[in-house]
Amino acid sequence: MEYKTLNNGVKMPMLGYGVFQTPPAETESCVAQALEVGYRLIDTAQAYGNEEGVGAAVAKSGIPRDEIFITSKIWVSNMNYERATASIDESLRKLQTDHIDLMLLHQAMGDYPGAYRAMEDAYKAGKLRAIGVSNFYSERLVDVATLAEVPPAVNQIETHPFRQQAAAHTVMDELGVAHEAWAPFAEGKNGIFQNPTLVALAEKYGKKPGQVVLRALMQEDVIVIPKTVRRERMEENFDVFDFELDADDLSAFKMLDDQSFPRIFDHFDVGTVRWMLGDLVKGQQLGGGTLY
Ligand SMILES: NC(=O)c1ccc[n+]([C@@H]2O[C@H](COP(=O)([O-])OP(=O)(O)OC[C@H]3O[C@@H](n4cnc5c(N)ncnc54)[C@H](OP(=O)(O)O)[C@@H]3O)[C@@H](O)[C@H]2O)c1
Repeated sequence: MEYKTLNNGVKMPMLGYGVFQTPPAETESCVAQALEVGYRLIDTAQAYGNEEGVGAAVAKSGIPRDEIFITSKIWVSNMNYERATASIDESLRKLQTDHIDLMLLHQAMGDYPGAYRAMEDAYKAGKLRAIGVSNFYSERLVDVATLAEVPPAVNQIETHPFRQQAAAHTVMDELGVAHEAWAPFAEGKNGIFQNPTLVALAEKYGKKPGQVVLRALMQEDVIVIPKTVRRERMEENFDVFDFELDADDLSAFKMLDDQSFPRIFDHFDVGTVRWMLGDLVKGQQLGGGTLY
């Protein structure tokens, strides 16, 4: 495994296992298999509704807790100081642990400065080993990274061959924030696994297109957390530490970046933001001063 040393000295695996859209009933079994395969970073979130499954798999794995890196994220409905504070304790309970390795604010929505202060207090209390943000595009990131008492260690944003986020990466580097990719496979969209450039690179290195994607992103200093519910794909996605793209091939990979590729979740679209504030999580009813 390769590691990224975060800005507070905590070491984070460069490759992990994501459980967005993994049904809660299947999560324990999927995470148990991922741990058997060798993954030591698990990425969940309050909004995924499957923190319990992650916690059960980790608890039953027999692997020492300090060898596993758990990430979770605070959802929009908990985005003020009081709710975020309570939700951190709720995540700890569901995950069956006394600390979360990395807690992120899931979206730059609601009273997120208040929620960020709740994470800082939980960090100081030892409940969170590192704190950060997700979907904070550069102008939001520079704000929180400059003004926070405990600067964010990580920013998790949409990043894959068709949206490589080079400009955002530069800003993160300047701020000392690690870049983590969500949807490294673009959720399978845009024919990614049949892409001619990726197929050619895969043939050259004797690997699969998906493996080329993960390797290339890690070479670009991006942490990756691919999701799959299938064991053979967990194994394939983990088998990426025995080759490196040379400079020309990395350039060919960079050429796949395509600003016209539609964002998977468009945080600059009013309808998407309304959906995240309302209907995305069942039962969530925000509005009318809920979070301020
Ligand atoms: N912070 C955020 O707002 C945010 C948003 C989205 C995602 N995330 C995180 O990022 C993680 C990864 O993103 P994602 O789940 O959206 O998408 P992804 O990892 O880009 O793609 C997952 C899709 O690719 C398929 N797949 C996986 N490995 C494959 C392989 N080797 N060959 C062929 N198909 C393969 C999976 O299908 P099967 O499962 O059927 O194999 C699934 O349909 C999430 O699980 C979550 O932890 C965070």
